[in-house]
Parts: sequence; structure tokens; C-alpha cells
Amino acid sequence: MKDKTMLIHYKEEREKYMGAVVPPIFQNSLFTFENYDELDAAFGSPESANIYTRGNNPTVTLVEEKIAMLCGGQDAKMFASGMGAISSAILHFVKSGDHIITINNVYGPANNFIKHYLKEKCNVDSTYVEGKKVSDFEDAIQPNTSLIYLESPSSVVFSLQDLEGVVALAKKHGIKTVIDNTWATPIFQKPLELGIDLEVHSCSKYIGGHSDVVAGVVVGSSKDIREIKKNEAALLGAKMAPFEAWLILRSLRTLAIRMKEHQKNTLEVLRFLEEHKAVGTIYHPASSTFDQKELFEKQMSGYSGLLAFELKADDLEQIKSFMNSLEYFKVGVSWGGHESLVIIPAVAYLKEMTKEQFKALNICLGTVRLSIGLEDVSDLVEDLRRALKKIQ
Ligand SMILES: Cc1ncc(COP(=O)(O)O)c(C=O)c1O
Repeated sequence: MKDKTMLIHYKEEREKYMGAVVPPIFQNSLFTFENYDELDAAFGSPESANIYTRGNNPTVTLVEEKIAMLCGGQDAKMFASGMGAISSAILHFVKSGDHIITINNVYGPANNFIKHYLKEKCNVDSTYVEGKKVSDFEDAIQPNTSLIYLESPSSVVFSLQDLEGVVALAKKHGIKTVIDNTWATPIFQKPLELGIDLEVHSCSKYIGGHSDVVAGVVVGSSKDIREIKKNEAALLGAKMAPFEAWLILRSLRTLAIRMKEHQKNTLEVLRFLEEHKAVGTIYHPASSTFDQKELFEKQMSGYSGLLAFELKADDLEQIKSFMNSLEYFKVGVSWGGHESLVIIPAVAYLKEMTKEQFKALNICLGTVRLSIGLEDVSDLVEDLRRALKKIQ
């Protein structure tokens, strides 16, 4: 079964549900048992038995099975958000006294979790590297390094890490690897097949795809996922709700065709931006100035629709005027849904960090982030053309 067929038919078991083409939602908190022996058997395998929905629920399990299959993992665990998945995956591999290596442009709250929360509450140290070269990671290894946390492409600047190279290095030193694969989705990148230990996604982005769910998932080996279910998922309790799992099931059926369309629209928007004189550096793996094309070809098979570019504007009023002039690009956080979005990352970053920290991220006040949606691309290009006039 190819991915697209699998997402529609795998594990649907329609004969169990009166032939319903879409499975029902198991909207229940607990499961009852016929007798002592049945209860006893369920408690014998709490990681897979349906006992209580904080642990397992058939609607959630179905999504986990499909996502695990899509990513080439043995099992998956859904969480209430991408951050629930990220913090659980990281906690699974670290203990007090350990050291993590991650990248400068890692997603903001993942950065806060590693740099501040883990340091202050769990005595876990961290080193940040650019991550474009495997040697960046090699140079940062310490005797207590237990985890390399990747995000490829990274946030805001969308630079890549060499997944096979980092895996080889990590395995040599007995270090575990986790990757945030939200940007590429499992349609365009399959890190587990390259040897990464755990893959995490914010399903609030493309996997959900309709801007109506906040969710996350961790995918990996049966052993790692069994332990995550028993520990981080059950004890911290960031569980996925059955209705949200059901919405994600709906979304998965169109993931591959949505990604193709996001890619098509994005490539057209990029060609337009590259020709425009008010646009400076463009950050996206398909931009003509992207300097890791070979690595892209080696480990990815497509482009998603989140990009950033520098407006050639020297004051905040011009930047505001550009953003306020857009009609179809709605102003908002998040990305990966059907609708196009615009945000100026500086608005959030300057509230959380000093100007020097902000500069070290390689972004500036005029950096604009766009999420390219599924509208007709000619409308999107016209919208940008109109708004960019404000800069000239
Ligand atoms: C790259 C990346 N990873 C993870 C997350 C966190 O996901 P969630 O908002 O579902 O917790 C986000 C959210 O914006 C993100 O951009």
C-alpha cells in the first residue's frame, strides 16, 4: 500500500462499525469490563489496553497507527499539542546531569524548554550550534551529552541539518536523536528511515491542515513509545482528545494532495518575490539563494509553504503598512492550514529576548514570515504585489 492508499484504508475495520466509511468517535472517558478476568487481562498490558482515555482510546489509537505507518515508525503517541510531544520526547531521553545539543534557530518554546526549564528544574545543560555542518555537533559533544535535538528545516531561516551525518555521529557516541519534522511533514521527509530515534510533529500545522486542531505526535520504535506512554504521556497527562484525533484522521486523508498544492503555490509566490525590488533575502529551501540544495535533494522530496523574507524597509511604519495592506494573508500565528498567513517574527521575539540575541538568530525587524495556503495563487501574488507597493 502506498502512503495515500494507506491513509484512506489502513486499519479502518469498517465491518466492525456497520460499514461506516468514516469510523465513529469513541467519546468516552473509561471502558467497562465483563468480569474480573477481563479487567485483570487489561491491566496486564496497560500500554495497549483500552482502560481509561488518558491512556488509550480507539479513535486516538487509529490515528497513531496511521501516522506511525506514514513515518515508517513502529508506533506513535498523540499529544494535546506539538509542545506536549516535544517536551515528552526530550524528557524521555534525558535525566538530571545530562547535556543536550540543539540548533540556534530551534522553535521558540522548544528553546525555552531546553534552555530554561530543563536547566532550572532538571539540571540539564545545553549547547546551541548553527547545525549546518555535522562538525558543529561533533565539536559540541560532552561526556554527558545524551541527546541531539534537531529541527530540519529550522524555524525562521529554514536551514537544514544533515540527518544521516548527525545520526552516524550520534550512534558512534551513544547519543539519542529527536527531530521536529513539522515543516516537511512525513510526505516530504522520513527521518526515521535515516536512523533518527524519535520524530515529533505539531499536528496543529499541515497534518491537521484546517486550522481547527491543536495537537502533536511522537513517532519511533515500539520500545521508546511504550515507555513514553507509561511515563511522559500518562504522568504529565497531555492527552489527545478523541474528537481532535478524529479531525486529524479526516485531515490525513488529504495530506498528500494538500502538500502538493501548498508546494505548487509556494513555488509561484517565491518566483514572484525573487523578482521584486522591495524584497531582500528569501528564506526557503526552494529560493535561488538557498545554499544547501545538495543536502535538500539527499534527504527531502518536496517543499512546504512556510517561508520568510526581508522587506527592504527601514522603518516600522513601512513594515506595518505592508502587513496591514494584505487582504488574503491574514495576520496570525501558526501556519500549515488552508489559509495564507503573515506575521512579523520580531513582534514576538523582541518581547522575549534582547536585541543582541535577536540578531544572533539571523533575522531582522523587517523579516516577514508567510504561510502559503491553498487559495488561488494568482490572488495571493496580487495581494503581495499590492502590499509591496507600500514599500517603494
Ligand atoms: C516548528 C514547530 N514545532 C512545534 C510547534 C509547536 O506546536 P503546537 O503549537 O502544536 O504546540 C510549532 C508551533 O508553532 C512549530 O512552529
